[in-house]
Amino acid sequence: MTAARAASEIKVRAPGRLPRVGIVLGSGLGGVAERVEDAVAIPYGELPGFPQPGVEGHAGRLVVGRLAGTEVAVLQGRVHAYEGTGFAALRTAIRALKLAGVETLVLTCAAGSLRTEVGPGRLMVVADHINMLGTNPLVGPNDDAFGPRFPSLTDAWDPDLRARLSAAGAALGIPMAEGVYAAWLGPSFETPAEVRMLKLLGADAVGMSMVPECIIARHCGLRVAGCAVITNLGVGLGDGPVDHAHTLRTAAAAAVDLERLLVGFVEGWTEGDGGQP
Ligand code: HPA
Repeated sequence: MTAARAASEIKVRAPGRLPRVGIVLGSGLGGVAERVEDAVAIPYGELPGFPQPGVEGHAGRLVVGRLAGTEVAVLQGRVHAYEGTGFAALRTAIRALKLAGVETLVLTCAAGSLRTEVGPGRLMVVADHINMLGTNPLVGPNDDAFGPRFPSLTDAWDPDLRARLSAAGAALGIPMAEGVYAAWLGPSFETPAEVRMLKLLGADAVGMSMVPECIIARHCGLRVAGCAVITNLGVGLGDGPVDHAHTLRTAAAAAVDLERLLVGFVEGWTEGDGGQP
């Protein structure tokens, strides 16, 4: 099994480490990986079955170490549905983290806001999601070793972890929003009409990631939390067009708050932490 081989490789490369919290960093949000202490960085290319990301802003390495005293495994760089390479590598990466000891997965991404009062630079805790990808990362034969054929997504975004994220933000004076994240296939951004549709459907933010990872993680029993970094208002809601360079620039600015938030979130993490704030 590829995930098991990747997990063994992680154990060989980072001996004695037992990461509890996995963190996936989105476009332009790689900075927190630099704050990991006693870090062992493993390029994805050296881990069996891991994704080979190709988009600007995605470094493609796993960083194992300690963040604020908590053992973490940080996935710096992800694979997106729009790359068209399928979900096998993403399943391998997340399941390898699970086999390496991770119990909780924190997902981050850049996103467009569908609420004009939550503008660029704000952080939005994910309360729930709408999968607009038109596919699901678990399509195909089920691997019963990891989870059931028909996994539940009730409370996919763990309520206790959401509260813990919001509490960490409040303690740091970071204004936090909470909302529903819609996953858009991309790679083209939405049209203004599609943005209006997503708002009507009940979404508060839109991006091109996080949902596949959440589904794979819930399937294998990981607890999931998510935070979107708002880089722009959805197309048609603000003044200008949306482009990837702008996304990366705004993400870099807001990444400072995200880093502080993630440090606050994992600080004082205890074995089998219930995520209680
Ligand atoms: N739409 C989709 N994905 C995004 C956006 C957006 O407006 N901003 C950053 N990622």
